[in-house]
Amino acid sequence: MITIRPYRPADAPALAALFFASVRQAGLRDYSRAQVEAWAPEPPDPRSFERRAAKRLSFLVATGEADGPVGYIDLEADGHIDHMYLRPEFVGKGVGSQLYDALETAARTHGVYRLYVEASEAARRMFLRKGFQVVARRDFAVRGVAIHNYAMEKDLETP
Ligand SMILES: CC(C)(COP(=O)(O)OP(=O)(O)OC[C@H]1O[C@@H](n2cnc3c(N)ncnc32)[C@H](O)[C@@H]1OP(=O)(O)O)[C@@H](O)C(=O)NCCC(=O)NCCS
Repeated sequence: MITIRPYRPADAPALAALFFASVRQAGLRDYSRAQVEAWAPEPPDPRSFERRAAKRLSFLVATGEADGPVGYIDLEADGHIDHMYLRPEFVGKGVGSQLYDALETAARTHGVYRLYVEASEAARRMFLRKGFQVVARRDFAVRGVAIHNYAMEKDLETP
């Protein structure tokens, strides 16, 4: 069973490892090895998650039976969804969908009614199912490697 709860400082090392595994393994479904290596050249410093948490309006963690993080998603005050990553073995089971639904609820609670994201191919499929629209495909280079994602947005109904 999946539980979704706010980020805790003790999650930082697990989330750093999770981000790296997610990009390097799950990312390969849609991107080349060179692309995922440029996207995540090394595991991030766990302290970057502390800084991330301090700046985010909402930072949610999905946990499995053992309470270890299996995914996370975060929201900035202007409605930007910055990160959304699952442990590779939890991709394709609806956990991303559950995390997003919890974030959308949090956004409404904070009075944020326009959400936007730069989505990977996998994220684009999920956000389309959630009613987002593609604004533009973005082609750019990361560490000299060509890669792409999609600018997407969704207006939530105001109360
Ligand atoms: C982006 C990401 C978080 C989305 O999570 P996800 O598990 O793929 O998305 P969902 O929860 O909507 O699950 C959808 C997939 O699970 C399948 N699925 C299986 N059981 C399901 C269920 N009970 N409910 C919903 N979907 C289910 C769907 O058919 C769908 O398959 P598809 O992607 O081939 O269309 C995840 O793919 C991921 O971590 N990817 C690697 C990192 C990445 O790209 N991050 C985004 C950066 S912007």
